Amino acid sequence: MAMRRVSCLAPKRVSSKVTPTSLARKPPTRGLATAKAPSSLFASLDTFADRHIGPDDREIALMLSQLGYESMDAFVADAVPPKIRVSPADVSNESIPALTESELHARARELGQGNKPFKSYIGMGYHNAVVPPVILRNVMESPAWYTPYTPYQPEIAQGRLESLVNFQTMIMSMTAMDIANASLLDEATAAAEGMVLSFVNNGSKKRTFFVDQGVAPQTLAVLRTRAKGFGIQLVVGDVSRILEDDTLRSDICGALVQYPDVNGSIKDFSSLAESVHSAKALLVCATDLLALTMLKAPGEWGADIVVGNSARFGVPAGYGGPHAAFFACTEKLKRKMPGRLIGRSRDAQGKPAYRLALQTREQHIRREKATSNICTSQALLANMAAMYAVYHGPEGLKRIARKVHALTQLLKSLVEKSGYRVVNSEFFDTLTIYAPAANTTAEALHKASTDVGINLRRIDDKFVGVTLDESVGLDDLIVLANVFATAASASPISPLNLPHVDSVAAVPSALQRKSTFLPHVVFNTHHSETEMLRYIYHLQSKDLGLVHAMIPLGSCTMKLNSTSSMIPLTWSEFSTIHPFAPKDQVTGYLQLIQELESDLCKITGFHACSLQPNSGAAGEYAGLSVIRAYHESRGEGHRDICLIPVSAHGTNPASAVMAGLKVVSVKSLPDGSLDLEDLKAKAEKHKDNLAAFMITYPSTFGVFEDGVQDACQIIHDNGGQVYLDGANLNAQIGLTNPATCGGDVCHMNLHKTFAIPHGGGGPGVGPICVAKHLAPFLPTHPVVPIGDENAINAVSAAPFGSASILLISWAYIKMLGGEGLSESTHAALLNANYMAHRLKDHYSLRYKNKNGRVAHELLIDLQEFDKTAGLKVTDFAKRLQDYGFHPPTCSWPISTCMLIEPTESETLEEIDRFCDAMIQIRKEAEDIITGKQPKDNNLLKNAPHPISVLTTSDAEWNRPYSRQAAAFPVPWLHERKFWPTVSRIDDAYGDLNLICDCPSVEETVESQSA
Ligand SMILES: Cc1ncc(COP(=O)(O)O)c(C=O)c1O
Repeated sequence: MAMRRVSCLAPKRVSSKVTPTSLARKPPTRGLATAKAPSSLFASLDTFADRHIGPDDREIALMLSQLGYESMDAFVADAVPPKIRVSPADVSNESIPALTESELHARARELGQGNKPFKSYIGMGYHNAVVPPVILRNVMESPAWYTPYTPYQPEIAQGRLESLVNFQTMIMSMTAMDIANASLLDEATAAAEGMVLSFVNNGSKKRTFFVDQGVAPQTLAVLRTRAKGFGIQLVVGDVSRILEDDTLRSDICGALVQYPDVNGSIKDFSSLAESVHSAKALLVCATDLLALTMLKAPGEWGADIVVGNSARFGVPAGYGGPHAAFFACTEKLKRKMPGRLIGRSRDAQGKPAYRLALQTREQHIRREKATSNICTSQALLANMAAMYAVYHGPEGLKRIARKVHALTQLLKSLVEKSGYRVVNSEFFDTLTIYAPAANTTAEALHKASTDVGINLRRIDDKFVGVTLDESVGLDDLIVLANVFATAASASPISPLNLPHVDSVAAVPSALQRKSTFLPHVVFNTHHSETEMLRYIYHLQSKDLGLVHAMIPLGSCTMKLNSTSSMIPLTWSEFSTIHPFAPKDQVTGYLQLIQELESDLCKITGFHACSLQPNSGAAGEYAGLSVIRAYHESRGEGHRDICLIPVSAHGTNPASAVMAGLKVVSVKSLPDGSLDLEDLKAKAEKHKDNLAAFMITYPSTFGVFEDGVQDACQIIHDNGGQVYLDGANLNAQIGLTNPATCGGDVCHMNLHKTFAIPHGGGGPGVGPICVAKHLAPFLPTHPVVPIGDENAINAVSAAPFGSASILLISWAYIKMLGGEGLSESTHAALLNANYMAHRLKDHYSLRYKNKNGRVAHELLIDLQEFDKTAGLKVTDFAKRLQDYGFHPPTCSWPISTCMLIEPTESETLEEIDRFCDAMIQIRKEAEDIITGKQPKDNNLLKNAPHPISVLTTSDAEWNRPYSRQAAAFPVPWLHERKFWPTVSRIDDAYGDLNLICDCPSVEETVESQSA
């Protein structure tokens, strides 16, 4: 294939005497200076591929020559099996034309015009959030916050860990629950997690879960999907039935209520809680954080699990997301709680430090014993919501809530004056209004509202819903009230003659909040913008992101998140749209979605796409549910065996279990490839019940296996479907695709391959693409129907999942174009193979193909160092922090290994810098092996070395190496030092002494005076 950036002809031979490192650093200029010249003097100069792909032509030529190749084509032919290659025409500039950065922005503006900025009063869990500008600019739009990875390396992540603890504390305090996690994907999936926890908490024996009729329809739809896999029976109705119906109570494992409910009513569920508890079941409550500033907290009236969406705390609606859901529960359920939990531990110096707690409890780590599969969640959005609470503090939140409530009361008086009946006399911010009482219809109201650019909730032909929020002012309210007056032909409402309203009048007195919330210092300090800005910057300065150095996490594809693709995200024509806005108001979004789906189909070779799943793991679950629906449609619903290689990511078996499948493991051969004999034997053994095979390709061992098509054929021959985990799609685009490999369905991690930033642990998007025969089963949505009649129910709360960030992947694909996408894959493979080449004499490369090549990542095995020097993978990882690097993926998929993925975005210089660091650490390890340094007190075991350790007195230092060797082992660090802010964190202590909220006022005073 002819490369635009590097010629297929032989690059000039480089003198073998010159080391790669020095060559990479030699010229004073790099990059575009050596890229292909523009086609004419007037050609656009803001093409994206040259900005996105790290190595320039000279560096590519150098790497190829180091590997012994004369052309990129020759190299790729050795890395990727010829039989799975696709034609270059499949992903080319003809199939996906490339736009320049400025053309992309013009196109995004054009699409944005198709989204009508109607004022939404639809509610149903989605509000017009007011994002404080200091948070918008300095968190949401800041790469220091959006580029870091999940905080698996806590010593270089204390900033966002503290912020996530703020999130947990905020949720615990507002809900009055004992413990809360650091976000789930959305409110509907959080409710589904609550249902499943209720089920397993009861020993999976009682199968009935009751859902109150006041629960939002999208939540109910996701519960229906999720209940199926576990064999849970959903009963929907008036929840007071539980109090009366003994037969129901005898089989109940839990119940879900919404507080306030979707229609705005506020009910007292305290006797219900007692009744549910007496049936040994759990009460799950979906709630609203702003309402809880005025309502008695669910933890105070007996809820066991409290879930909800934190979006109205300063996160844009974004046509459905991303938003951070929360999940809080009682102490006794904490070890079963799904999702990520941040806890406080101590570092090697005994100082408090945050970390991910109870990781063994994490569901995806429990593999087939899991009942949930949360990996990526919504960290960035949780941080935004937490910052919002920090900024406003409890008093600010109360003021916002009182204003919203007072305006809602005013609206009630005004619509009643126009003749309407408000169905719910008790409410916080939502009214359900009966139109015929004013001699009009719901349709007339919707007509009058859309005429003035307003959307109301469509309930049916008689009722409409209205939900107010922080964005609504008195002027908006008058316009809104006049919509009702107009439709009823009543007198217009004048702002000069408004009735008086009381601040809490419509909240039932027994349910008014008496308890205080957010008393912690952090929520009562940073209320001026200056202080807030400094707090945000204080935290971000502790965290290592892509803004500092490469993050070579294998399987995570931490590539450039370009600013050009991020910019449209916060334009109001995309950020303010309600997910249930009528389709004719969102033609821009729908066009963008259609284009992205179509491009993803071209890339994967599949027929249809669903963008609904909010993470890779959610995509796995959706894809497997689609497979199950397909089997059912053919009368083969009994097929329930899922074959999964032992090397698979933990979310694979967890997702399979959630989809109601039984997991059977498939072995790997000593060379890391799939054991086809074992696969065949197991496929044949289970042929009558075989539902699916899940495979990651290239494998999690970092190689393209020759036998992938044979493996898929074996499955098809035995009646199964093939699920291809597309987390490694970065190695495939333009060279091969999941359909050609033999798959029927794949998910993609848009937050990896397609450049959505990782956000410190989310958001993510895990769309699935499927072959034609599976297309009819792609998920639909109860409020915005998008699927066929055979579609599975919703897997996410919003019809297109985290719609706003689809813009990023859309922009990434459009700006690279087919050719740039393909070039990116070439560069990703080359970078990884060059790295393997540089490290091969220093570390043992665990797997390569028969031509000696890896795919887009490499696995190095460190087990020899355990034997010779007592060094574990963690010791190497922590020492890399001293060199200013985020360590690679540690101890996965093999416990003694590091999985390293450089991606295409890193330049040769950065790759060399990383390799130099690894080689230098290898030398430090040698000193331990040879006895020059003791095994228990050395540079690796004591790593990382924060400033607080380096500045201890000479007596305290007490180490057989210098401070210089600890902090500045290589010269470049004098210029580019990133300081870990704590020393190594004690994991075991943190789990044994679990603390997962902010320090109390007393603790803060103590630490300040220490
Ligand atoms: C191979 C593989 N599959 C699935 C996943 C799950 O993706 P997510 O974290 O978006 O749920 C990952 C994430 O690390 C992965 O590496």
